[in-house]
Amino acid sequence: MKHAVEISDKIYWIGVNDMDTDLFEGIWPLPRGVAYNAYLIDDEKVAVIDTVKKGYLPQFIEKIQAVLGERSIDYLVVNHMEPDHSGSVKILRQLYPKMEIVANQKTLDFLRGFYGIEDGIKIMGDKESIDLGDKSLTFYMTPMVHWPETMMTYENKTQTLFSADAFGGFGVLQGGIFDDEVDLPYYENEILRYYSNIVAKYSPMVQKALTRLSDVPIKVIASTHGAIFRENPSYILERYDRWSKQETEKGVVIVYSSMYGHTQTMAEAIARSLACSGVEQIRLHNVSRSHLSFILTDIWKYKGLILGGSTYNMKLSPYMDMLVSTLDNDKLKNRVFGVFGSYSWSGGAVKALRDYAEKSGNQLLEPVVEAKHAPDDNSLDLCRQLGKNMAESL
Ligand code: FEO
Repeated sequence: MKHAVEISDKIYWIGVNDMDTDLFEGIWPLPRGVAYNAYLIDDEKVAVIDTVKKGYLPQFIEKIQAVLGERSIDYLVVNHMEPDHSGSVKILRQLYPKMEIVANQKTLDFLRGFYGIEDGIKIMGDKESIDLGDKSLTFYMTPMVHWPETMMTYENKTQTLFSADAFGGFGVLQGGIFDDEVDLPYYENEILRYYSNIVAKYSPMVQKALTRLSDVPIKVIASTHGAIFRENPSYILERYDRWSKQETEKGVVIVYSSMYGHTQTMAEAIARSLACSGVEQIRLHNVSRSHLSFILTDIWKYKGLILGGSTYNMKLSPYMDMLVSTLDNDKLKNRVFGVFGSYSWSGGAVKALRDYAEKSGNQLLEPVVEAKHAPDDNSLDLCRQLGKNMAESL
């Protein structure tokens, strides 16, 4: 998509696809790439909404110029300062020196710190508006979705919500850019992965934002990542509501660490028991093999979570420790937990998992199964019982 795409009357998508970056935020894998969406409103006053990652500036400028020619930009709205969106702010200001940056009070510190920009900034408060001529923009403060300065911009005439990261996901745009043009289940999974990896910790703030937007008529949701929802914006609003309330689907995620195969044998006994008990959605992850990004996506989706730990140096193995620490930080709730594991000469892993499960406030099922050395028939029977109890609890 070399040039801008008109998404509604004189509002253009001027985003870019990044197929080069391996890790988003230096953490999360991008096997399907990621799109940085930005928008241009061509009115009496010209407004650009967000920019793109710094390395994609040439394509970004080309799209702006395809719409504007030699004309200038009046306003650059900065909804969110994470550099995947603000990375081209400084150079855009140099190219269009009269362009005012429209932001909120909390944005100032970031503009100064990241880019040394201190002037030509128009500070907007919650629900304040600017007139563009035919169209107008109203700003909604949505702090901690997922940075403190995050806001959303609403265009009143077309009822378009420029929502920053909210409702966006990983994955480049592959020709289609609207919900009615793309393979929606494919993008939904990438939106959930983005949510569970990056936004989940701030679920209570997402709920606040959804409440604040509940009386705003929204025809189009234009996020900074992924597809634009114009046919059915409620599709993604409903999912965001469910995910941020930590409402789950029927299914079980088993995540285990295993050094010699013994904890894996226990995990597979549990998984088989779940299947025999009628659970259709079972996701089995070796925590040393599956990236945290994909494990979190499954955990955020399903009600059951069974953690299996092999003991390493009297503690959890490093990758399992990282997972537990992440879940603790994300304040995972509304789940049913199971715990199992094994050790060779000193316990530790099962105790750590049990401690986390109890501290988390989630329901912890019996039996908690711990095997010394290789699991014997009794241990495997207990694993099967855990699977059965989990199936009954869903
Ligand atoms: Fe897409 Fe928080 O940046």
